[in-house]
Amino acid sequence: MPEPALNPELIGLLRCPRSGASLRVESDELVSADGSCRYPIRQGVPRLAGEAYAESFGRQWNRYDVARTEEDEATFEAKTGVHPRDLAGRLVLDAGCGGGRYARLVGSHGAKVLGVDLSTAVDKASALCAELPNVQIAQADLLDLPVAEAAFDLVFSIGVLHHTPDPRRAFAQIAKRVKPGGRLSVWLYRKNTPPQEWLNSSIRAVTTRTPARVLEPLCAGLGVLGSVPVVNRTLNKLANFSAHPDWTLRVCDNFDWWAPKYQSHHTVAELSSWFAAEGFEEIAELPPEKSGGLYRWVYEHDLIIGSGVNVTGVRRG
Ligand SMILES: C[S@@+](CC[C@H](N)C(=O)[O-])C[C@H]1O[C@@H](n2cnc3c(N)ncnc32)[C@H](O)[C@@H]1O
Repeated sequence: MPEPALNPELIGLLRCPRSGASLRVESDELVSADGSCRYPIRQGVPRLAGEAYAESFGRQWNRYDVARTEEDEATFEAKTGVHPRDLAGRLVLDAGCGGGRYARLVGSHGAKVLGVDLSTAVDKASALCAELPNVQIAQADLLDLPVAEAAFDLVFSIGVLHHTPDPRRAFAQIAKRVKPGGRLSVWLYRKNTPPQEWLNSSIRAVTTRTPARVLEPLCAGLGVLGSVPVVNRTLNKLANFSAHPDWTLRVCDNFDWWAPKYQSHHTVAELSSWFAAEGFEEIAELPPEKSGGLYRWVYEHDLIIGSGVNVTGVRRG
């Protein structure tokens, strides 16, 4: 397969992770202005960081095909507060793009998208977006984000910062990339009740040390449980397993929960305070995608494991 072409405008927003200097393309490398640092470009993806602790994500996103256009569009709108059709011509940063489902969606609506991820999921994202010259994927670390500051009309991060060892730092890094007047939307896992948190941490202490080849069949087993409505409506208040109607998504979601090394849970007040501290206004909580009286009650009482806290705001001009 031919390598995806580089997007010069989006590549121009990348910076040297060591010095912060701008970078130029020299055959299959990005080279810092003084020539002292060189970063490979493979499969159309500049590699500004190694995979570090995010190996499980490289595995899952390259293995499971989870892009579902209609569902991704609804999820993107719910979790960012932005309709993709309002993004044509805008500059957008997908912070933690994984396998690229949202980068592709936003790019297909005419936005210019830089998708950044630490893991080899970038290979999948790049392949998924190969036909969109307005999407550029890069392998880089959000904790020291090698991307121009105050550049983007929209920065969004769906289910990512809680998988870093320092979510607050990652938040500050992505917040700085929003232009004055631009929007930031962040979705993080919600903190559940103390017994749920205790049980989850205890099980994850084992699963995060379990080899992927063993954990994957277990996640498939949970995928079977998730197909039984009466089971998944009750048991998954104790321990997380996906009840998604699509088998592939169920198994991938289960692995996504039990395998990653880091997983932290947050409150709306905490996330809102991060927005305020980084100079955002019009800070608003976004409602969950699902609705219904009973759902809303259990959600608001923090009983739904794997549900989110979701906040958006506009950077002060
Ligand atoms: C649950 S996935 C979400 C991916 C995508 N946003 C989605 O919803 O499809 C979390 C992603 O965060 C990435 N990630 C974790 N730590 C990161 C870091 N420090 N810098 C960049 N990406 C990171 C992982 O590699 C993974 O692809």
